[in-house]
Amino acid sequence: MGIRKIRTEGDDILRKTCKAVTEMTPRTRVLIRDMFDTMYRAEGVGLAAPQVGILKRIFVMDCSADRSLARVLINPEILETEGEQTGEEGCLSVPGKHATVTRPMKVTVRALNEDMEEVTLTLEGLEARCVLHENDHLDGILYIDKAESPVVDNEE
Ligand code: NI
Repeated sequence: MGIRKIRTEGDDILRKTCKAVTEMTPRTRVLIRDMFDTMYRAEGVGLAAPQVGILKRIFVMDCSADRSLARVLINPEILETEGEQTGEEGCLSVPGKHATVTRPMKVTVRALNEDMEEVTLTLEGLEARCVLHENDHLDGILYIDKAESPVVDNEE
């Protein structure tokens, strides 16, 4: 298990623009494995590389209840969005808090997988929300920038 330290809001690295991945290397494979380990340990549904201090355009996600839908997206590009959903959102980099964010209901995203093969996914609901939230991290954007309600503690 490679658990990495999750950077939290206030850390400048979360506000930087990440660089595209040009080749898959053993080091990047370890990073991806560690990102999954770190996300699952923290019980998150998504984690972007800058959240562990690496400015590469990579995120991992798993929105399934039984943790069986692991996805890694490299150099993602949002091709299309459709509809709207308004709901509660949180982030491992803003621990213990949530706020209301409106996002598209459906997203089509093109990305590379771990073997640097191009894949195009159309995802809805929570997975769409997750893709858009994680994609924002690659450009230094946090959900709190888009919150339509005060960012409050999870107990509230
Ligand atoms: Ni986040």
